[in-house]
Amino acid sequence: MPTPDGPRLLVLKIGGSLFSDKRRDRHLDAEAVRHYARVAAELHRAAPGRVVLVSGGGSYGHGAVRDLDPADPFAALPLTGANAELRWAWTEALRGAGVPAFPVQFAATAVLGADGAPALCGEAVPRLLAAGILPVLSGDCLPTPDGRLVVVGSDLVPGALIGLAPEATRIVMLTDVDGVMDGSTVVWHLTPATAGAALGVLREAPRWDTTGSMVGKLTALLAHASGGAECVILNGARVGTASRFLLEPLSTWPETLPRTTVVADRVNA
Ligand SMILES: Nc1ncnc2c1ncn2[C@@H]1O[C@H](COP(=O)(O)OP(=O)(O)O)[C@@H](O)[C@H]1O
Ligand SMILES: [Mg+2]
Repeated sequence: MPTPDGPRLLVLKIGGSLFSDKRRDRHLDAEAVRHYARVAAELHRAAPGRVVLVSGGGSYGHGAVRDLDPADPFAALPLTGANAELRWAWTEALRGAGVPAFPVQFAATAVLGADGAPALCGEAVPRLLAAGILPVLSGDCLPTPDGRLVVVGSDLVPGALIGLAPEATRIVMLTDVDGVMDGSTVVWHLTPATAGAALGVLREAPRWDTTGSMVGKLTALLAHASGGAECVILNGARVGTASRFLLEPLSTWPETLPRTTVVADRVNA
């Protein structure tokens, strides 16, 4: 749903491509993490208790799950360790930027629903928000009822948070391109009904990417939009630390800022 007064909850996902080289293992660009921590800090200060940060996996997440043994139901477990390090790096950078940030392991606060999608359980995240704290989440592996661990990439994490502010959640995904591209042109608006063609123009994900690159991102956002969220893909390089506009109604955003919005058909068609 578009949020005419701006969102009640902003989920900011920072793509791993912005702070990490996915072809390497456990690589982090500390300066980039500090920069995007300042972007998130600005949002938190503008709207304490209304912002959640989700870190992309970068080389930590993708590195941990690239070569999983399909015969081992617990093979994905190292993802939990790798992404814990990543969340801690963000938490320290956010603390450095003066923000009360707190890392939250996704599997400790979400479960897989009957449809396979992760859903928030328990009070941990809403209580952090109510206390004016910035939760720092990431992808994780979650157990199935029969004891297997399933990888839940960071693009899927925001979907579990929509219930915290139904019809008033905005999901902003910062990445290293201007949005969904059709050649050199950005596709400004997509809905579940119009996305078929866009999915067709997406290139295959590179070998080192484990979550489908833009295809995975768009597929996740289409599901989040169907769940009532207003979703935007933006180039992180175009968003400076004057990031408060991300909390404002979309109609007030600079027209010169390329982006792809993904919302449910009933409102965008
Ligand atoms: N049609 C397309 N439009 C935009 N990006 C695309 C497209 N096809 C493939 N991609 C790739 O998807 C990448 C973004 O996804 P990804 O690398 O997973 O980002 P993130 O690190 O933010 O999750 C782009 O850098 C680009 O290489
Ligand atoms: Mg990705």
